[in-house]
Amino acid sequence: MVSILPLKLSAASAHMHGKRLLGPVSLTLGQNGLTVVIGPNGAGKTTLLRLMHGLQRCSGGALSWAVPAAEARQRQAFVFQAPIMMRRRVIDSLAYPLRLRGIGKGEARAMARASAARFGLADLLESRAPLLSGGEKQKLSLARALIIAPEVLFLDEPCANLDGRATREIETLLLCERARGTRIVMSTHDMGQARRLAQEVIFMHKGVVHESGAAEPFFAAPDTPEAAAFINGDIVE
Ligand SMILES: Nc1ncnc2c1ncn2[C@@H]1O[C@H](COP(=O)(O)OP(=O)(O)OP(=O)(O)O)[C@@H](O)[C@H]1O
Ligand SMILES: [Mg+2]
Repeated sequence: MVSILPLKLSAASAHMHGKRLLGPVSLTLGQNGLTVVIGPNGAGKTTLLRLMHGLQRCSGGALSWAVPAAEARQRQAFVFQAPIMMRRRVIDSLAYPLRLRGIGKGEARAMARASAARFGLADLLESRAPLLSGGEKQKLSLARALIIAPEVLFLDEPCANLDGRATREIETLLLCERARGTRIVMSTHDMGQARRLAQEVIFMHKGVVHESGAAEPFFAAPDTPEAAAFINGDIVE
């Protein structure tokens, strides 16, 4: 099957009520690796992820996948910062995306059980999703996103509000997924996490990509004073 990547953005922008939220942004997401999107509050990280996934309309410029947009959409997933939990039980919550794709009930539930085991949720299969702890909810969101085996996984601050242990668990799952070849693009405010996970960095500032490139040289010696200040923990105006 031909890959949905690369994703190309050419002077792409997003507006809302006449206000520019993002852009113009030009970048290419290649086929492999894990990209971390960082930058101050309001820099446009969430908007960039939403635009790439098709949740935010591209109001200027262009965005193109290697396959038609509708097909690309089916082969990618998005994990939100504050997971929205349906009232369903965990097992049904996991089976749901599979049922939507036409997989039979028995097979969907078997896949849901296997996924729950992999994500440490096996003992919670019968629990109602909204009653889970924050970390468990986030693991369920991740499991639900990955159960369709997406080629690209977008995550918007997946570990915000999680403690160190829950964060470490999510990071381990993400690294495992990266090793399986899933292309990951995630935003984070946690610079430790960015350093641990990123192979590529996109530093956003004031709605545009201020600096981007391979993670190691970026963290060792960023090109711009704004990026240097940001990774140093200073306030970036
Ligand atoms: N639905 C919306 N309507 C109007 N303005 C919006 C909307 N969503 C985002 N914005 C604005 O777009 C800009 C970029 O917001 P965005 O949420 O992408 O930033 P962010 O980098 O994700 O910030 P944070 O670190 O706080 O999550 C901000 O100025 C924000 O106020
Ligand atoms: Mg955001």
